[in-house]
Amino acid sequence: MRLDDAIRQRRSVRGFLPDEVPRELLREVFELAQWTPSNCNVQPWIPHVVSGKSLAALREALVSAARANEPLAPDWPADGKFEGVYRERQYDAAARLYGAMGVERRDVKGRDEAYLRNHMFFDAPHAVLVFMQQPFDTREATDIGMYAQTLMLAMTSRGIASCAQGALGLYPPIVRKTLGLAEDHRLLFGISFGFEDPSVPANAARTLRVPLEAAVRFHD
Ligand SMILES: Cc1cc2nc3c(=O)[nH]c(=O)nc-3n(C[C@H](O)[C@H](O)[C@H](O)COP(=O)(O)O)c2cc1C
Repeated sequence: MRLDDAIRQRRSVRGFLPDEVPRELLREVFELAQWTPSNCNVQPWIPHVVSGKSLAALREALVSAARANEPLAPDWPADGKFEGVYRERQYDAAARLYGAMGVERRDVKGRDEAYLRNHMFFDAPHAVLVFMQQPFDTREATDIGMYAQTLMLAMTSRGIASCAQGALGLYPPIVRKTLGLAEDHRLLFGISFGFEDPSVPANAARTLRVPLEAAVRFHD
């Protein structure tokens, strides 16, 4: 697949088939993502790929925490800071997603259930939880953003669908405990991945982008 096509075809998929990605293919995409650039080449990403019984255990722990309304404890403050044009874009993306799912804006229960799907990894057979070590912060997080996109494009070009999820970073103590990780492993986000289930209504959602003229300033 051409790089341009992978960039345009990647999108967030929120419903997966149970089939696992073959182990060799899995290793191939993660090996490719290792070539992501980073400041001083420190390569600050610490990805933990979770499948099978480990994923089932994590899914169960996260879903029960969310259902019990356990207080969120993200390693970085969660959203709530979108205003103006950013809020409009957030609303638009949400309206497109809930529209595809047939969930009305005032249907609080429906939206709660839709949100809960995050903690179920949208039924994906794999997820990668992406950590960075203390005391790394914003500067290293930008490297890790690049890592995530490199990884997702490598997946797209091989027919593997994905969804980056900040929601998977809302209960880091549970994730650290389940994976046996030390406190200094700070959780940024997760990415559910596998093969798309095209019959899942959420997967019909499509987002837009601000046109070039409104986004990029060219200084001559
Ligand atoms: C860091 C990050 C966190 C995200 N968190 C979530 C999430 O928690 N749940 C979700 O359904 N989508 C999440 N998304 C997906 C975005 O909603 C999606 O990328 C955006 O709406 C653009 O749509 P597209 O990915 O289909 O192009 C996240 C994306 C990124 C990059």
